[in-house]
Amino acid sequence: MTGIVDVSSDWLALREGEDARARSQELALAAAKLLPPGPVVVHDLGSGTGSMMRWLAPLLPGPQRWVLHDWNVRLTERALDDAPPVDRAGLPVAVETRSGALAQLTASDLDGASLVTASALLDVLTARELHAIVDACVDVGSPALFALSVTGDAELSPYDPRDAIVGRAFNAHQRRLADGRSLLGRYGAPIARGLFALAGWRVRETTTQWHLDDREPGLLAEWFDGWVDAAVEQTPELRDESAAYRRLRAAQLARGELSAVIRHRDLLAWPR
Ligand SMILES: C[S@@+](CC[C@H](N)C(=O)[O-])C[C@H]1O[C@@H](n2cnc3c(N)ncnc32)[C@H](O)[C@@H]1O
Repeated sequence: MTGIVDVSSDWLALREGEDARARSQELALAAAKLLPPGPVVVHDLGSGTGSMMRWLAPLLPGPQRWVLHDWNVRLTERALDDAPPVDRAGLPVAVETRSGALAQLTASDLDGASLVTASALLDVLTARELHAIVDACVDVGSPALFALSVTGDAELSPYDPRDAIVGRAFNAHQRRLADGRSLLGRYGAPIARGLFALAGWRVRETTTQWHLDDREPGLLAEWFDGWVDAAVEQTPELRDESAAYRRLRAAQLARGELSAVIRHRDLLAWPR
């Protein structure tokens, strides 16, 4: 399939623990209360290797069936490698995968949905894709729990004036034209909120954050490299200046002095 912006399974595995720590349990439990009685069917959009399912399944009642949607089958295949997660009662969930582009999503793809979920997805979508997703959710009428959409706020410590310059370029990179797709970046979550509100749905939101420090230096290093790489790709004039900045941050990281807080939004929407 053309147009796929590749995400590596190594990166998804590296961030899975921090994602699990960061996602809003409060919104997940509120979503659980909105489920109709009986078997639960969850459609997870942009599922990757199934990180959202592994986190959320144990918080929901069973029996559960998860349908993982992604256009990258190499990632969804991985979701079937290990034993499935268990539901709130400790029973394994059923898992199936579907490949396809979210721009074409309709209510019929969300067959039987009790809940639609996504994690770390809205910022990598186009407006057309997000409209298709919200329309499909509204048509099918089941609640939507969309976790960990990037807000563009990254706070590094110790402070350095170059943080803001890199942050601005990174945020512009998130909204780049990628293979003909104009990405929403940090506007993804607010646009989703607005579209659900237009449909007359109720929306609850909360800020969720990664706290990266020397407890997980590998994730901090990888996040920082990716953040600066994206900024330089977007604004090549930053290349020279970023070399010294990278050296400084690498030395701070090696001494256990570097930390970063990266903010996200989690959103729960449901029909009135
Ligand atoms: C940042 S990853 C997050 C994966 C997973 N939700 C997680 O939290 O680990 C975004 C995922 O969405 C998928 N994706 C992005 N845009 C898509 C689209 N337009 N159609 C289908 N899948 C898409 C990517 O292949 C990738 O697996």
